[in-house]
Amino acid sequence: MSARLRAAAIRDRKGTHFATVTAYDATFGRLAEAAGIDVLLVGDSLGNVVLGYESTLSVTLADMERHTGAVARGTASAHVIADLPFMSYEPADADAVRSAGRLITAGAHSVKLEGGAARAPRIAAIVAADIPVVGHIGVQPQTAALGGGFKRRDDREQLLADARAVAAAGAFALVLEMVAPEIAREITAALEIPTIGIGSGPHCDAQIIVIYDVLGLSAKPPPFVHPYAQLGDAVTAALRAYAHDIVKVPVARADT
Ligand code: KIV
Repeated sequence: MSARLRAAAIRDRKGTHFATVTAYDATFGRLAEAAGIDVLLVGDSLGNVVLGYESTLSVTLADMERHTGAVARGTASAHVIADLPFMSYEPADADAVRSAGRLITAGAHSVKLEGGAARAPRIAAIVAADIPVVGHIGVQPQTAALGGGFKRRDDREQLLADARAVAAAGAFALVLEMVAPEIAREITAALEIPTIGIGSGPHCDAQIIVIYDVLGLSAKPPPFVHPYAQLGDAVTAALRAYAHDIVKVPVARADT
C-alpha cells in the first residue's frame, strides 16, 4: 500500500495536465501502468464494455469488488479509483460509507460517486471515514440511463454550484463528463482540486477515457473519442489467422 500513489499527491497535481484511463482487469491495469499512467479508474462502465449490459445500472458492488481487486493485483504503484455502483451509496450516509469500505478492502485506494450538491453529504460522510473520494458531475451515466439522457451539459450555474459543493464536501478530484468546454474551463479555474475531463474539452487538469474506446476495442465509441489504436481489428485478424491455420491441418486418423 505504501508504494501507491496517494490521493493527496493527485490533488497536488492541480494545474498540471495528466492522463488517466479506466481498467477492469489485471492485464490492462499492468499495461496502463507500464505506459506510465498512474491513476486508473475501475469505472462502472465495466457494465457496458465488459459485462455486456446496456447501462451501468446493472453493475453490482460485488462486480466492482471483483474487478477492483483484479486491477489492484495487476499493478504495483498506480492509484486505483473504484466506482460506487448504482444504489450502493444513494440511500443513506451509512450505506455510502459501508460500500466505499468494501471497495477499499477489495483493493481500491479511493472511490468515485456520481452527483453534485445533492450528493455532497455522502461525499462528506465517506471522507469523514478517511476514504478519499472523487466526484463526478456533468452527464452522470447512472441517472442518464434512468431518463436524464446523454446530452452535453451547458447549464453553467448548476454545474458551477455542483462543482463547488463536491469540492467543499472534501473530494480530492472531480470528473467532468460531457460538460461544455468553456464551462469546464471555468470550473477548472474555480476549483482547488484537479478536474478530470471526459468529452469536456482540453482545459481540464486531467483527461480520462474508457480504455476499450481509446484502444479501438469498442463497437460504438462515443463521438468525442480519438482512438490511438485499432486493436479490435487486430484481434479479429489474429484470431482469423489462428482459426485458418487450425482448419487447414489435416485431422490425423487411426488408419493413416
Ligand atoms: O465508469 C466510467 O468509466 C466513468 C468514466 C467514464 C469517467 O465513470
